Amino acid sequence: MPREVRDINPVRWMAGEVLLIDQTRLPHELLTVNYWNVENLAGAIESMVVRGAPAIGIAAAFGVALSAFKNQAGTDTPILGDIERLRRTRPTAVNLFWALDRMEMILKECVKVSGKARFERLLSEAQAILKEDIAMCQAIGRHGAQWINRGDTVLTHCNAGALATGGWGTALGIIRSAWAEDKDFSVYATETRPRQQGARLTAWELQYSHIPVTLIPDTACGALMKAGKIQRVIVGSDRIAANGDVANKIGTYQLAVLAKHHDIPLIVAAPSSTIDARCPHGSQIPIEYRSELEVLQIGKERITAEGVPALNPAFDVTPAEYVTAIVTEKGVFQYPYKF
Ligand code: MRU
Repeated sequence: MPREVRDINPVRWMAGEVLLIDQTRLPHELLTVNYWNVENLAGAIESMVVRGAPAIGIAAAFGVALSAFKNQAGTDTPILGDIERLRRTRPTAVNLFWALDRMEMILKECVKVSGKARFERLLSEAQAILKEDIAMCQAIGRHGAQWINRGDTVLTHCNAGALATGGWGTALGIIRSAWAEDKDFSVYATETRPRQQGARLTAWELQYSHIPVTLIPDTACGALMKAGKIQRVIVGSDRIAANGDVANKIGTYQLAVLAKHHDIPLIVAAPSSTIDARCPHGSQIPIEYRSELEVLQIGKERITAEGVPALNPAFDVTPAEYVTAIVTEKGVFQYPYKF
């Protein structure tokens, strides 16, 4: 009897509103917030109420549907303005631009239809993006589960789980699928300073699904690899260049270097919406720099002397040759990458 893994739905549409699980409140409360205006939804993406590459794209797609719902009486102009606003929220995850391009294309096809039909068409496209993402993540899980053996300890970084996607997860999708296949293994989740996605989200999400998880400081990874306590590293991605270079949460590159040094496979899990065919090389991926306060403070408490500046790059790029395999819904790819 396969084990059951519990559902988590971070982004939904209900009766003219976009519903988001507020990821800034986890793990203390599982709270859903309703959005009925695009500016507030854009703010939610910026402040990481919703985060994770596929989830950002899905939320933005519903944002376009929301705009069409509110502008049923008018022209496309305000909807196009809202699409541009959503594009300016976060620069690195390509899924955002992929989803918005797809929504804009549908909008352009709606020239001869009523405002109501335009809204319905856009809502159904956003629903399709959500449904396809869940299906892609489940396929990633099926293809990727072979990388986890009984007894392994798998290290994952940041949160590439149900919360970061339509509801299954990429890296955690592989972990969930292997777990559902009845394999016994355990997971180390890195804290993921400075926003603590590992400590706050991954640890909660795995515990919620009864998958054994232990939280480790980011700084413990090298020592634990050296001690032979980690057999796999499995992470997600925000954008994969055509040559296989992988942008992901800051710290992934140093994990990849350590993994290579210790001969530990590093697996990247991502839907094909994360592959940016227009970006030939990782050096062309725009890296988001966030507020220095995220580094200078823990929560709302300042931990650093006044006047000390901080640098806060949110993502890094791991060269393709450090990546053992990239698992998409289409299967497993290996270096040299040709998608
Ligand atoms: O800044 P975040 O929390 O949006 O960063 C998320 C990540 O880096 C994830 O690993 C990535 O988006 C993959 S999510 C399936």
